[in-house]
Amino acid sequence: MRPLAEYEQLTNDELKARIAAVRAEAGDRLVVMAHYYAPDEIVETADVLGDSLALAKKAAESSAEAVLFCGVYFMLETADILLNRPEKIAERGGKRALVMAPDLTAGCPMADMITAEQAENWKRELSEVVDFSDFTPITYVNSSAATKAFCGANGGGVCTSANAEKIVRWAFERRPKLLFMPDSRLGRATALALGVAPEEIVVWKAGEPLGGLDVETVRAARVILWDGCCPIHQRFSVDAIRKIRAEEPNAQVWVHPESPFEVTDAADGYGSTTKLIDVVEKAAPGTTLAIGTEWKLVDRLRRRRPELKIVWPGDEPSICVDMSKSTLARAAWVLENWLAGEPVNVVETPPEIADAAFEALRVVL
Ligand code: 13P
Ligand code: SF4
Repeated sequence: MRPLAEYEQLTNDELKARIAAVRAEAGDRLVVMAHYYAPDEIVETADVLGDSLALAKKAAESSAEAVLFCGVYFMLETADILLNRPEKIAERGGKRALVMAPDLTAGCPMADMITAEQAENWKRELSEVVDFSDFTPITYVNSSAATKAFCGANGGGVCTSANAEKIVRWAFERRPKLLFMPDSRLGRATALALGVAPEEIVVWKAGEPLGGLDVETVRAARVILWDGCCPIHQRFSVDAIRKIRAEEPNAQVWVHPESPFEVTDAADGYGSTTKLIDVVEKAAPGTTLAIGTEWKLVDRLRRRRPELKIVWPGDEPSICVDMSKSTLARAAWVLENWLAGEPVNVVETPPEIADAAFEALRVVL
């Protein structure tokens, strides 16, 4: 195996040339996928750039033998599960597709806020006071494969920020109540948008008896949210939005639904990463926008549309450091080792987890 240190000494131009050479040799056996929050030089290198919904769908359709996925761990697990369904393996003559990470330590703190064991405990505690079969468990795609497997095994599904309303509507068509994990912010915004009354939505605090709620509140709730959040999107504030409105009365404020409850309420609109990009792309020249999502993406949008005024609804840049771990040096290192027949950083989900997680994931496809 060629060591990473060798690549870390090369310039960006040299690394780009190495990556291009691997791709020229590999042809359509290889796909490079990247999330919009990846660094610019990776975004420029990707074959497929998207939000988590688009990337999951592309992975499900792909016939590539290998994917270099520049995102965070839960996205690679999802790609692995979708690329390695038994029928896809059969199409490849029995070969698994390799899903490779530039850096295996690139995780998502929100996804880590619930484990499958915690989800099982949640079910057990709830079952003591309510009929659990009244609930459809929905997990945001920002969760481990094992948490998705819990939802799949309990008749539930997965949503992304781009399709949350569709999936929650689907959940309510099946059963009258909803468990939503791990992001309480997206869960609340989606339930409110679908007409659930605020008093019917409660937050379950892990580690507290009955989630810190009383029995009557749990029984009356239509939506129970796990108390998870994205530390990056928590940095937007109502004070910053007020200041923007005072200075720029015509500003349109748009935020990602992972933002704090009061920030989403104070904004003019909210939406998935793709929706926010669309708002910027479609804005008339001279418009002032405040865009609340990951800093690298907002900064890129600002450079792409200099005729707009794009301001920041927070005090300091909020950079997802895990998404920033996809570097050109690591991408070149993984790709050259793969081409040399010594793949590194391969993500492989155990089959029993992958099968149950797929039951939950199939609703997004
Ligand atoms: P999207 O679903 O909008 O791509 O968001 C993924 C994510 O991790 C946002 O923090
Ligand atoms: Fe996770 Fe937040 Fe980073 Fe998205 S921005 S990957 S939710 S930590």
